[in-house]
Amino acid sequence: MPTFDFSAIEQCSNEELDARVDRARLPRHVAVIMDGNGRWAKARFMPRIAGHYEGMKSVREVVTGCREIGIQALTLYAFSQENWKRPSEEIGLLMKLMESYLQTELSLLLEQDIRFMTIGRTELLPKPVLEWIQKVETATRDCQTMILTVAVSYGGRGEIVDALRGIIEDYRDGKVTIHDIDEALVEQHLYTAALPELDLLIRTSGEARISNFLLWQIAYAELHLTKTLWPDFRRRELLVALLDYQTRERRFGGTTAPDLTGTSGA
Ligand code: FPP
Repeated sequence: MPTFDFSAIEQCSNEELDARVDRARLPRHVAVIMDGNGRWAKARFMPRIAGHYEGMKSVREVVTGCREIGIQALTLYAFSQENWKRPSEEIGLLMKLMESYLQTELSLLLEQDIRFMTIGRTELLPKPVLEWIQKVETATRDCQTMILTVAVSYGGRGEIVDALRGIIEDYRDGKVTIHDIDEALVEQHLYTAALPELDLLIRTSGEARISNFLLWQIAYAELHLTKTLWPDFRRRELLVALLDYQTRERRFGGTTAPDLTGTSGA
């Protein structure tokens, strides 16, 4: 089991941290609850949207970093079903930010061979955002190096309800019987069916909640909770999260970690 002395982390340069991340033992799928944009802005006497704007720079750096390090899938929680309860002005600005992200990042995603997907009840989004989502999803459909999934208008309970509806429709149409219903079938009906198993969930800003995110998928995920606010979460913090992940012994309820990577000695 590799160990990393986290008390010495402050003395490590980014290059040293980078070199310590074992590329053979990376999480396949990393998800992030990006929290703390509002507090970042408040601490600077700025409007909340300034925090979201700065948070977008972290999105760019973490997407590029994950892709460069070799993560297969990254899922970001950008807007929850519950976020619709926020003041309409903030929702409007967040939607504009999303639209501008899609417009400006399309060429970068293509250049870096990153496939873009969304999960959630996206039909509730304003038409221009939805149109951009469809455009970017279509344009990056054949990209292979990493899958970036953005959860928008997303709720984990809603996802499970939608999966149940799909299974019941298949049952009604005679495509499945009661005996076919197992965990694998449920997974096939989740929004994340095309993604690898979730290995690492990161939450920023010091909160220790799941906030209705990927409820089914977190079953055996490792959690990395950091006090860093999302706008301050950059490549260095990503490396720290990966190093933290690599200190964990993953037993999946058993007594030894199974080889899930298909490579010996992992
Ligand atoms: C939580 O911080 C953050 C959000 C609700 C929005 C996250 C959005 C972005 C980072 C920008 C857009 C992202 C993409 C992928 C285009 P908060 O407002 O709840 O912060 P607080 O808890 O400090 O108030």
